[in-house]
Amino acid sequence: MTKELNIGIVGLGTVGSGVIKSIEKNRDYFKNNYDVVFNILGISANSKSKERSFNASNYKWFDNPLDIIDEKNIDTVIELIGGEDGLAYDLAINSLKNDKSFITANKALISKHGEELSILTEKHKNFFGFEASVAGGIPIIKTLKESIILNEIREIYAILNGTSNYILSSMSKLKISFDDALKNAKDKGYAESDPTLDINGEDSAHKLSILNSIIFSEIPSFNSIHIRGIENIELVDHNHSSEFGYNIRLIALSVITDNGVYKEVTPMLVDKDSSLGRVDEANNIIKIIGQESGDVVLEGQGAGEGPTASSVISDLIDCAIGSKLHLFSKSHSELSNNIDKISSGERPYYLRVFLKDQKGSMSSLTKFLSDSNISLDKIIQKDENSNNENKFKPVIMITYPVKKDEIDSLIDILSNSDIVSSEPLHMPILVKG
Ligand code: HSE
Repeated sequence: MTKELNIGIVGLGTVGSGVIKSIEKNRDYFKNNYDVVFNILGISANSKSKERSFNASNYKWFDNPLDIIDEKNIDTVIELIGGEDGLAYDLAINSLKNDKSFITANKALISKHGEELSILTEKHKNFFGFEASVAGGIPIIKTLKESIILNEIREIYAILNGTSNYILSSMSKLKISFDDALKNAKDKGYAESDPTLDINGEDSAHKLSILNSIIFSEIPSFNSIHIRGIENIELVDHNHSSEFGYNIRLIALSVITDNGVYKEVTPMLVDKDSSLGRVDEANNIIKIIGQESGDVVLEGQGAGEGPTASSVISDLIDCAIGSKLHLFSKSHSELSNNIDKISSGERPYYLRVFLKDQKGSMSSLTKFLSDSNISLDKIIQKDENSNNENKFKPVIMITYPVKKDEIDSLIDILSNSDIVSSEPLHMPILVKG
C-alpha cells in the first residue's frame, strides 16, 4: 500500500529549498521505487516575501512555525533553521511530544540536547532522522547505526566541516588570504549563518560528539572535546607545511586510550598523500578503524544544497518505510555520561613563531624549548614573509613527540615573552591519516 508522509518544513534557506525542489522533482521516482508519496502541507521561514528558488505560493504558509505542529494532518516536521536552542529546540521537543516524526540537519541541537531528544524519541516511539547533521551528503549516521554494527571502533579520524576545509585548501592552492577564502565559502552556501562556528572548530565538535554517541554509546558530550579552530593560520603556515610534505586540515578525532576516549578538534599537519590530506574543497571524510571491519573510509561533499538535501531525503524515505531505531543506536538508559576531557599521548608538533630580529632572540627561544623539555627535529628561519616592518621573522619548527600539555605550556611562556610578535601557532602532526 502506498505510504503517504504529510510534511511541514521550517527553514527555507539553502537546504530547505533544496529539499522542496528534490521532492518536487522526484515524485515519480519515490512512488515507483519506494511506493512513497511526500505531501508538503506547510512551510515556514523568517520572511514570506523573500525570493526563493522554488514557488513558495504552491504551499500553505505558516507565520508561526510552531503552528505547524498543531496542524493535525502533518505527521512529519523537518527543521532546517539551526541553532542549539530557541525555535529549533521548541520545534523538536513539541514535535516529539505530539507524536510527530522529526527530521533535522541541526548538529548543535543534537549535540546539546541529545539526551532529552533520545528519551523523548524512545518514549513516544517517534522517528528521529539526523543524517544531514553530520558530513552533508555522506551517509555516516546510517552506516554507523545500520551497517558497521557489532564492531568495536577504537579510532576515528575525520574532516567534518566543509567551510573550514574549503578555506584551508583554497588558501594553499590559490594563495589567497583567509578572509577571501571565507567570503567564497559563504557565497557558495557552505558556511553557517554565523561562520564563527565553522572556523573555531565548534561545528566540527558538535558533529564529532554525535558520532561519538553512536560509536561509544554515550550521551553527546561537547565539553569532553579539546577544541581549537583555524582562525590563526596564515599563508606562511601553508607554504612551510607544504615544504615538509604536509597539508593543513581541521581534524576531528576520537581515540580509545587506557584512560578513556581522547577527543579533539584541531588543525593538524596531515601527509599530503594520505586519505585525509588529499581532501579538498568543501569535502568531508570519515575514517573509522574497527576491530573487525578494519579501515572504513567514507568521503564526499560535506556542505551545500544538494548533498545536505540528499541526506534529508534519505531520512524521509527511512521514515516512510517505518524505521524506528534508537536515536544513538542504544536505548538512552544504556548511554554513559562521559564529560571529562582526558590528556593526549605524545605527538610531533609544527610550531611557528614570528621571532624578533635581534641578537639573543634565537638563544632565548632555544632556552625556552629546552626548559620545557621540547626537542626539535627540524627548524627553518626565513627572511621572507617577515611582518611588522621586518622586525620579526618567521621561524618554523617540527618537534619530536611531546604531550599537548607540554606544548601548551611552552606557548604560554612564549606568548608572555617579548621575543615573539604574537601568539605562536602550534599544530600536531597526524601520523595516521
Ligand atoms: N557549515 C557547515 C559546514 C554546513 O561547512 O560543514 C554543513 O554542516
